[in-house]
Amino acid sequence: MSSQTFPAERTAVVTGGGSPRGIGRALSTRLAREGWAVAVLDLDEEAAAAVAGEITEAGGRAIGVGVDVADPASVEAAVQRVEAELPPVVALANAAGISSPAAFFDTTPEVWDRVMSVNARGVFLTTQAFARGMAGRGLGRVVSISSVSAQRGGGTFSKSAYSASKGAVVSLMRAVARELSPLGVTANCVSPGPVDTDIMGGPLDDQRRADLASAGLVGRVGTVDDVAALMAFLLGPDAGNITGATYDVNGGLHMS
Ligand SMILES: NC(=O)c1ccc[n+]([C@@H]2O[C@H](COP(=O)([O-])OP(=O)(O)OC[C@H]3O[C@@H](n4cnc5c(N)ncnc54)[C@H](O)[C@@H]3O)[C@@H](O)[C@H]2O)c1
Repeated sequence: MSSQTFPAERTAVVTGGGSPRGIGRALSTRLAREGWAVAVLDLDEEAAAAVAGEITEAGGRAIGVGVDVADPASVEAAVQRVEAELPPVVALANAAGISSPAAFFDTTPEVWDRVMSVNARGVFLTTQAFARGMAGRGLGRVVSISSVSAQRGGGTFSKSAYSASKGAVVSLMRAVARELSPLGVTANCVSPGPVDTDIMGGPLDDQRRADLASAGLVGRVGTVDDVAALMAFLLGPDAGNITGATYDVNGGLHMS
């Protein structure tokens, strides 16, 4: 049997799920349609609540939780709430992130620390906190979002600090996969090329969109659903033999 049986009542946690135009919201609503209860976590508590409201209005089950993924106490409080209010957590999607277009010589230690604290430390904290329960129950999926910037050293919008933080995400997921897969918890990354969301410094204008599209092979910029669909598969019951992997979703901008 290749696919694993998941409990009918199960929760997916999506960090960065509140962004109205973002990957996290697309993933949260998709997972809800696929039968998951969803914990929508975001620094912007109101936005997280709005996405959770959208899911419950459509007949699904969700809560919105304000959390700073870089803060261990905030993450721990989120774990307590999710475990108290929703079915067992089977999936964690690490989608929270911040960009950094600062050039290398302009990257101050403060910028470096801020980007690393959200993008790398945040993934470490949420994964450690939510995977404990998964490992205890012998079933879990962690999928974190890296970036083509980790593979190409930037080249789309963000530069050195962001690229380094997203490289850390790949390495961390591989290390987590090594330790936790024997306990039933897989860990993987997706690595998107440019997607038209607010993290690109605001909506893309026509010129920037055309430039980014022509750099790849498919000839268009990525959509939030391109990324969410791949993540939903990796979080699902058929992905049990995939661990420590990084999947590109970049329209051929980079082949690894
Ligand atoms: N858009 C792209 O082109 C692209 C490409 C590659 C990778 N990514 C990655 O995809 C992920 C989702 O980004 P997006 O494009 O949807 O951007 P987005 O800015 O729309 O969403 C990011 C979300 O993370 C939240 N967030 C930021 N800091 C947080 C913190 N400390 N704690 C909790 N939440 C926090 C924000 O409030 C926001 O809702 C990010 O990790 C990003 O780096 C995006």
